[in-house]
Amino acid sequence: MHPFHPCWSACCLLFFCSLEIQGAPEAPKADPEQIHLSYPDEPGSMTVTWTTWVPALSEVQFGLHPSGPLPFRALGPTSTFVDGGVLQRKLYMHRVTLRGLLPGAQYVYRCGSRQGWSRRFRFRALKSGPHWSPRLVVFGDLGADNPKALPRLRRDTQQGMYDAVLHVGDFAYNMDQDNGRVGDKFMRLIEPVAANLPYMTCPGNHEERYNFSNYKARFNMPGDTEGLWYSWDVGPAHIISFSTEVYFYLHYGRQLVERQFHWLENDLQKANKNRATRPWIITMGHRPMYCSNLDLDDCTWHESKVRKGLPGKLFGLEDLFYKYGVDLQLWAHEHSYERLWPIYNYKVFNGSQEKPYTNPRGPVHIITGSAGCEEKLTPFVLFPRPWSALRVKEYGYTRLHILNGTHIHIQQVSDDQDGKIVDDIWVVRPPHNRTKYL
Ligand SMILES: *[C@@H]1O[C@H](CO)[C@@H](O)[C@H](O)[C@H]1NC(C)=O
Ligand SMILES: *[C@@H]1O[C@H](CO)[C@@H](O)[C@H](O)[C@H]1NC(C)=O
Ligand SMILES: *[C@@H]1O[C@H](CO)[C@@H](O)[C@H](O)[C@H]1NC(C)=O
Ligand SMILES: *[C@@H]1O[C@H](CO)[C@@H](O)[C@H](O)[C@H]1NC(C)=O
Repeated sequence: MHPFHPCWSACCLLFFCSLEIQGAPEAPKADPEQIHLSYPDEPGSMTVTWTTWVPALSEVQFGLHPSGPLPFRALGPTSTFVDGGVLQRKLYMHRVTLRGLLPGAQYVYRCGSRQGWSRRFRFRALKSGPHWSPRLVVFGDLGADNPKALPRLRRDTQQGMYDAVLHVGDFAYNMDQDNGRVGDKFMRLIEPVAANLPYMTCPGNHEERYNFSNYKARFNMPGDTEGLWYSWDVGPAHIISFSTEVYFYLHYGRQLVERQFHWLENDLQKANKNRATRPWIITMGHRPMYCSNLDLDDCTWHESKVRKGLPGKLFGLEDLFYKYGVDLQLWAHEHSYERLWPIYNYKVFNGSQEKPYTNPRGPVHIITGSAGCEEKLTPFVLFPRPWSALRVKEYGYTRLHILNGTHIHIQQVSDDQDGKIVDDIWVVRPPHNRTKYL
């Protein structure tokens, strides 16, 4: 820019001001940041979570008209979260649950307190009951560095393409790093998605530090279990989120494996009894039981811990999920996309040769961990295993459209190929014989 341009001095001023802001230590602020939603598994409700750097009240004002007044208000608790790093940084966590929402209605909200308000965000209240068609977007392993798929996810979100997000573990890389600042950066990055859609999660290995405390404090999942597992209903599906990490970080409590296993069994029993109403049971956990990637991860071992359990074959999940006829198992951890033929104990159980996913006789596994992070993509072994149906080593994410009680549509979006659909299947299960595989 020419030095005599009238804008010059203003620009200088801006430049130095912004330098000053960047150089200054974190100014204590009551302005809400890192705003995100979660669904508390109560029809007609939605939870808003955000962070401030000074104590403040927690209030959400909301309404039905984008630029009109916000006539409704809800209050909630404020808690403090102290990061485990040397600086022991203190975050004020605000959680407010909005109730009495009209199913399917679009709302506008802002959050904060008199000390500072957020800008306005929008969300659509989830419809209630089993008779609608939820559209979910599923991915794992999204970092604050190299978050490849995020711009596209943002655009999809703005276009109203989804009802909820399933983030299958591994956030920020890592949320605890730099005294939790990497977590702050990540939560700000996902805000354009997560402040508009319920952002449902499960923990991954990158959340491990300080007993998963950044994960438990920053996300806000339903249920009063250990902060590591929960389930919820959406349309014709029951979705179970759990921690594969309890099998790997035993120093945080070996009993967690057992407690989670019993909780899972109990939840599956109930969901199975309710199958006439909600026919689909879908699980999400970070580390897969099977994969054909070129690394030494658990899923590359014949007897993976997630599949077979702790040594002595304790609390393995494959038998449990098979027993209760789980339909679809969503995984991540491997930075790629892989779809398996219906499988149980290494045997392929196609519905038929022509239509393997129509009336499958075993669960369907999808591994989708390529949303983008600093660790880039994971290669595959040269020759696919006989149980592997499709492998895609490209950044992307998965669209899951639960059309009705018998039909689910799964599509893989390639970010590398500018949004091209690189996988497209229907899983079809007739209403009979859903409670177990025969
Ligand atoms: C880790 O957290 C879980 C709850 O998420 C708790 O049950 C367990 O006791 C904790 N372990 C340690 C060693 O603090
Ligand atoms: C399962 O179905 C696929 C697609 O038709 C086929 O390629 C594969 O060989 C089948 N596997 C078995 C064990 O039937
Ligand atoms: C679900 O949708 C499919 C595809 O539109 C349709 O063929 C099927 O009959 C529907 N099933 C039910 C139970 O409505
Ligand atoms: C359900 O299972 C029974 C046997 O338990 C079998 O006779 C029947 O054909 C099955 N129905 C379907 C639709 O697969």
